[in-house]
This record gives sequence, structure tokens and C-alpha cells, in this order.
Amino acid sequence: MSAAARLNGVVKRYGEKIALDGVSLAIEPGKVTALLGPNGAGKTSAISLLLGLAAPQSGAVEVLGGTKARELPPGVETALAMIVREAATNIQRHAGATQADIEISTGGDAGRAAAVALRVSDNGRGGIAGRGNGLAGIGERVRSLGGTLEIDSPPGAGTVLRASLPLTP
Ligand SMILES: Nc1ncnc2c1ncn2[C@@H]1O[C@H](COP(=O)(O)OP(=O)(O)OP(=O)(O)O)[C@@H](O)[C@H]1O
Ligand SMILES: [Mg+2]
Repeated sequence: MSAAARLNGVVKRYGEKIALDGVSLAIEPGKVTALLGPNGAGKTSAISLLLGLAAPQSGAVEVLGGTKARELPPGVETALAMIVREAATNIQRHAGATQADIEISTGGDAGRAAAVALRVSDNGRGGIAGRGNGLAGIGERVRSLGGTLEIDSPPGAGTVLRASLPLTP
């Protein structure tokens, strides 16, 4: 059976410091795997790579047979940060919510360009009637990157903001 997750010759550097120097390891399904080592051995770096929270300078990271954490194009990363900041500020100022959730995922299937999807939801008052400067601004930014922004905000039933941004190769 193939490994649940695998590092293959990964090098992870932070500036001058080399945290992982050509590390290979396979985590087999159905087995308990422990990463042991002294402080600074690179355990956290290895786990961050496996979770897709960091990218190696070289080598390969495989999770469940192939998906590899991808780096987002800088324009997309900036746009995601702007949208989350605007949405979070709006929730704080306007929503009167007790809960908010942020989800980011990447996807895309045959025939469709790969895209990154962002969803920000709250359980507040909803009822957004029109776009002010904040929402119009992120709408323009998303459009300029070829993406889409949808806002679903029925009165009394919270707000869901969905952005989809294409990932050009
Ligand atoms: N999460 C939310 N829940 C409820 N109402 C919201 C939410 N987000 C925005 N709104 C409503 O939609 C309006 C427009 O939002 P938008 O962010 O575009 O403008 P703004 O926050 O008022 O001003 P700014 O230009 O500084 O962002 C807000 O004034 C508010 O009434
Ligand atoms: Mg706003």
C-alpha cells in the first residue's frame, strides 16, 4: 500500500539555517509514526511540510498519493489577505455575530482551471443591501484577477462571502 504521506529528499532552510537537509520519510497508513529528536532537529518543520503549511526549497512532499502543497501566486495571496481583512472588519463592525468561520481550499478538476476558494461566513444579522467601498474594493480586486465574488446575506440569517481566484500555472 502506498504511504499516507511522504517526504522525499526535502530541504527546508530558514535563511542561513538548514532545518531539514535532504530528509526522506514515509508515513504508512494504519501505523503510528513518532518523530523523535532533540530541540532543533526539524520535527516541526517536517510536520509543517506534511500539512502544507510550508513549502520546501527542494524535494517533494506527497500526501495521500500525490497532492503537493502549492505556493499561491503573490497577487492571489495579497487578494486573499485583503478579502479576509475586509470581511473580518465588517463582521466586527456590522454583523453582531457570535461566530465567524474562514475556510480556504484549492481545487479544480479536468477541464477547469485550478482555483483557490475562500469562504468567510458569520451568523450575524445578514441583510447586506449593497456594496460599500469595502466590498466594492475587494470585488474589483477579485475581478481584476479573473475571479468571482459572491455575497449571500439574507436578513437575519448571517452572511456568506465566497471568492474564487484562478491559479494560473
Ligand atoms: N458581515 C456583515 N453582516 C452584516 N452586514 C454587513 C456585513 N458586512 C457588511 N455589511 C453591511 O454592508 C455595508 C457595506 O459594507 P462595506 O464593507 O462595503 O462598507 P463599510 O464597511 O460600511 O465601509 P468601508 O468602505 O469602510 O468598508 C455595511 O455598511 C454594512 O451595513
Ligand atoms: Mg467594510
